[in-house]
Amino acid sequence: MSSCFWLGIESSCDDTACAVLEERNDSIKILSNCLYSQIDEHKAWGGVVPELASRAHLEKIVPVLEQALEEAKIKIEDINKIAYTKSPGLMGSLLVGISFAKGLAKDLGIECYEINHLEGHVCSALIHSPLSITHSPLIALIVSGGHTELVLIKPGFEYVSVGRTRDDAAGEAFDKSGKILGLGYPAGVEISRLARNGNRNFYEFPRALKDDSFEFSFSGFKTAVSRYVQVKGEEFVKEHIADICASLQEAIVDILSLKTVNAAKKMGVDTVLLCGGVSANYRLRELLDERCKAAGLRLIYPELSLCTDNGAMIAAAGILVTRVFF
Ligand code: KG4
Ligand code: ZN
Repeated sequence: MSSCFWLGIESSCDDTACAVLEERNDSIKILSNCLYSQIDEHKAWGGVVPELASRAHLEKIVPVLEQALEEAKIKIEDINKIAYTKSPGLMGSLLVGISFAKGLAKDLGIECYEINHLEGHVCSALIHSPLSITHSPLIALIVSGGHTELVLIKPGFEYVSVGRTRDDAAGEAFDKSGKILGLGYPAGVEISRLARNGNRNFYEFPRALKDDSFEFSFSGFKTAVSRYVQVKGEEFVKEHIADICASLQEAIVDILSLKTVNAAKKMGVDTVLLCGGVSANYRLRELLDERCKAAGLRLIYPELSLCTDNGAMIAAAGILVTRVFF
């Protein structure tokens, strides 16, 4: 097979992302993976403002595409296929990427494929080890700022939801707790950075729904953090910030990893796939790895640069999913 060059476009939330991937036989090579992060646009508001996000996508999508082509050392005419995020996400943001992808594909006279954002996250873990997903089922834990879900993936990318959060996503639990602790937005990375020097047994934050179900609940978590801060006072929090971050991180990753391993055992699969922005968390990787090993399960996850939203995961989903369906 000669090379096929894929352009991946992601604009579902607050990252404007384009990537070029080369597909050749069974291998997938990332030639470029470029991104404009809108964090500075939204920081002052403490969260993503949808109207600002779509405007920023409009402004940045062409420069990000140009950068992705330049880094990949190819011209736009060399692109053979386009994959873009169709949903879920912020409607205004998605529309920028969708319209751009469709217009570009029409102009170039090439095929374009709509991709589910969560399927993109799943495929981010398969880029460098496209294990024959078509042959054995696996359990995926998709953990991001908007989603927390356990999914059974059957051969041929057939998805069966096993359980999900009843309220907040795990990423939201990190971000909202961080906001209460005065750590800015989004706080997931900062919490995990501070937690590295902290004692995870400093305080036992509540683990909701620690039972046999595969549902999660994180909405009470921010209330618990907020109450803790009120009771202990700002000075104490400042002084023990590393220990507090390590403790709250432990509460979140404990419940995530416990339920994931239980789901894998119940479904009788031998592989667990971890993906989504929160999969960048070192302690989640470590604890899940420990528990998977103890249960005789194989664990796969994306490399760090592919955990949070990016264009490469969307192009990878285009490559892997079209192999099955087209
Ligand atoms: O997948 P993603 O980029 O966007 C969504 O699809 O939501 O995930 C973003 C989320 C944010 O909540 C962010 O705080 C969280 O992933 N995150 C982390 C870490 N890196 C990103 N949470 C915990 N630890 C991290 N190292
Ligand atoms: Zn995402």
